[in-house]
Amino acid sequence: MRKLFVDLKERAYPLYIGCEIVKNFKNYFKENCSDTTKIVLFVSNTVSKLYKQVIDESIPYDLKIIISDGESAKSLEYANTIYTQLIQNNIDRKSLIVAFGGGVVGDLAGFVAATFLRGVSLVQIPSTLLAQVDSSVGGKVAVNHALGKNLIGAFHQPKFVILDINLLKTLPKRELVSGLGEVIKYGIIWDEAFFEFIDRHFQDIQMLETNTLTSIVEKSCNIKCAVVSQDEFDQSLRPILNFGHTIGHALEASLKYSGLRHGEAILLGMKTVSSISYKLGKLNAENFDRICKLINKNEIHTKNLELDIEDVIARTKVDKKILSGKVRFILPGKIGEVFVTSDVPTEILCEALSELKKENFKQ
Ligand SMILES: NC(=O)c1ccc[n+]([C@@H]2O[C@H](COP(=O)([O-])OP(=O)(O)OC[C@H]3O[C@@H](n4cnc5c(N)ncnc54)[C@H](O)[C@@H]3O)[C@@H](O)[C@H]2O)c1
Ligand SMILES: [Zn+2]
Repeated sequence: MRKLFVDLKERAYPLYIGCEIVKNFKNYFKENCSDTTKIVLFVSNTVSKLYKQVIDESIPYDLKIIISDGESAKSLEYANTIYTQLIQNNIDRKSLIVAFGGGVVGDLAGFVAATFLRGVSLVQIPSTLLAQVDSSVGGKVAVNHALGKNLIGAFHQPKFVILDINLLKTLPKRELVSGLGEVIKYGIIWDEAFFEFIDRHFQDIQMLETNTLTSIVEKSCNIKCAVVSQDEFDQSLRPILNFGHTIGHALEASLKYSGLRHGEAILLGMKTVSSISYKLGKLNAENFDRICKLINKNEIHTKNLELDIEDVIARTKVDKKILSGKVRFILPGKIGEVFVTSDVPTEILCEALSELKKENFKQ
């Protein structure tokens, strides 16, 4: 078992990384949350069935809340039904919410933990690659609004996170690809050697080879921890983690959140902003080519989807990263380094999206 720390002074917390380590839950709990009164387990429908035995043997709880699968659970209405259950079950301020599932469960449980009784403690046990390398670490929690994703949220750091690689063995292929979107993101924004590692071990990752998965989860979390420890509240460095997300979110929204998995949209978003950077002369041809090749190795389910470029462009403008009316893009300068700019002419954005449409979407 490996242990990383998210270094946030009084809010610092450990990440435990290893194989079959959910069974150590009680030990981690004793180490980090000894004064808890009650445990409320939030678990996704699928995960509760797949890991019934693990839950029964290793995670003691006073109340279990099964979360339906799919993004629609991340809503204020859904959260409200949960508040009712918490109140009816006398859940108090010293209670602990444990989120066991993918990013949807983590974000929803985290949002409830941040807001119920002005905040109760949270533990994350992410069960998708995407949640392990991204959403469970860093304290961003949110629900969606009809007008946009993750618009209602808070910063609420967990007490600890269990990253159990064994949970990934049951992950459907498409969810693996989705998680890889965020993993590849870390390589491009921060670490060229990691980008190469992912490229070299691409096949092992597809085979869910334990050591390789452990390495990519650990490295991704290392990078996320480094960024978040320097800028917990999105004031300076942290926005680079949104590389590929301005366009990715716009694609997801334009396809009504039902066409693409989050990480698939991020893969396409990263490809588009890399193309923009290349067109602007900021990214060289060799780096652009390597980025596209690695992204294209992933099977992204777009061939039957129609892309409305005008709509996507309009949606980039409601992105949360808008600063005084201008959309800010995070562009790669080279593999391992990104920069932020508001200077992307609409024609270039349009050209890059047209190419994406031609290569990936229904003609
Ligand atoms: N808070 C953040 O910083 C942050 C960062 C990135 C993404 N997100 C959010 O995360 C969400 C996406 O998360 P996700 O990709 O994990 O999707 P998800 O939570 O919808 O999970 C995907 C599917 O996989 C199933 N599943 C989960 N674990 C499994 C396992 N071990 N084996 C088999 N099936 C399993 C789930 O039941 C679900 O059907 C989005 O809402 C996104 O906005 C948040
Ligand atoms: Zn993301």
